[in-house]
Amino acid sequence: MSSATPTSTFWRPWTPVAAATDPVVMVEGRGTRVRDADGTWYVDGISGMMNASCGHGHPRLLQAAARQLEQLAHFELSAFTHPAAEALAAGLARLLPGDLGETFLVNSGSEATEAAMRIVSQYWRNMGAPRDRVITFQAGYHGSTALAQKLSGLPSNASDWAAPFPIDHVRLPVPPRELRSAGGAEALAGAFATALAAGPPAAAVMVEPLLNVGGGIVLPAGFLTELRRLCDQYGTLLVLDEVFCGFGRTGRMFGFDHDGVTPDLVTMSKGISGGYVPLAAVSTTPEIKGSFRHEPMIGGLRYGHTTSGHAVACAVAAETLEVIADEGLVGNAKVRGSELLSGLRELEDHPSVIDVRGLGLVATIEVDEQETASAVVAEARRGGLIIRSQGTAIMVMPPLITTAADVAETVQLMAQALARVTSSADHRLHAVHQ
Ligand SMILES: Cc1ncc(COP(=O)(O)O)c(C=O)c1O
Repeated sequence: MSSATPTSTFWRPWTPVAAATDPVVMVEGRGTRVRDADGTWYVDGISGMMNASCGHGHPRLLQAAARQLEQLAHFELSAFTHPAAEALAAGLARLLPGDLGETFLVNSGSEATEAAMRIVSQYWRNMGAPRDRVITFQAGYHGSTALAQKLSGLPSNASDWAAPFPIDHVRLPVPPRELRSAGGAEALAGAFATALAAGPPAAAVMVEPLLNVGGGIVLPAGFLTELRRLCDQYGTLLVLDEVFCGFGRTGRMFGFDHDGVTPDLVTMSKGISGGYVPLAAVSTTPEIKGSFRHEPMIGGLRYGHTTSGHAVACAVAAETLEVIADEGLVGNAKVRGSELLSGLRELEDHPSVIDVRGLGLVATIEVDEQETASAVVAEARRGGLIIRSQGTAIMVMPPLITTAADVAETVQLMAQALARVTSSADHRLHAVHQ
């Protein structure tokens, strides 16, 4: 394994600075595989950063980036526009349900959350009826900028500063595995009904259709339908975070398609550009966008970044939407996802395994302890499979181009990794030698 030199000046995100870890140096990606600096190839079970949905080195995406770079890298978007942003917004309008045809572009999922919250807050002011309370999942994740961080109740997102508006975090009423049993959807919707009733009228409810960072938690069918109904009842805006689920990850184009609901705002990133370039979007309705029409000259939405709607990013994203359609990647995610889930369910008898769940190409094995999860991730990497853990959840999220052979190999490598981590004594030993 290659190591970064201990004197590396690169400060890696989300990593303890004192950690005695030698990160693997990744140098190349091809299709569903990545290669490190020592020449070892791995099965990429995390799609780069959960975003390389079309796989690595896709020629159409490389060409789209090169064409746009040659033509025009980027240009100011408040006084001007460019065809790449227009094409992407039009492409999204065709994909999204209902009248979610108005799109605002930014660079990251966190910025999409920030933009969505600013739109929500200003919308209520525009309507002459200010509301500011927002309801989210305690185990939800919407990003790591200051505002996005406060929307989550996960310990990893804790910060000392105050939120700019009241946020109510709804806890799961039952453990993740019990959400699938009868009554799961009602119990979950009931928790949101209580939160909606418990305070002043909420400006918005913001949730992910499947909780990613919270532990790969699949929400019960029917929950979003009921949440939509509750939001309508309270006149509250429903914001769905499709940053992780969007563009086929769960076996449907959007996570909310499983329930057939249409939110008032949707945030998107990751798969939107196949992970090749940073890009994110918020789409909403003409009614919400139109409420800004009386804003003074500087206004409209007082938010944006130098690289918001960067032309190269937009060109790659517009092409990504075409690749997803041309290669049938959403359907492939559904088929390969059920193969992956049934393969991993064979591992349910392992003494450390508490639950195996999944939807499309998001598969989660929940184990008894966080150390067990970390040890399995480390063992899998030694065997040639890159996966990821979030707390006690081990997550497998391969590119949507994954083949049946890739799935079989992934399941086999997972089984081997799990078999090598048999007891807590074992995984403590692994952690020491990692
Ligand atoms: C559901 C969800 N929302 C928002 C984000 C934040 O996106 P970013 O890391 O691009 O800021 C993430 C990132 O993992 C996510 O999974």
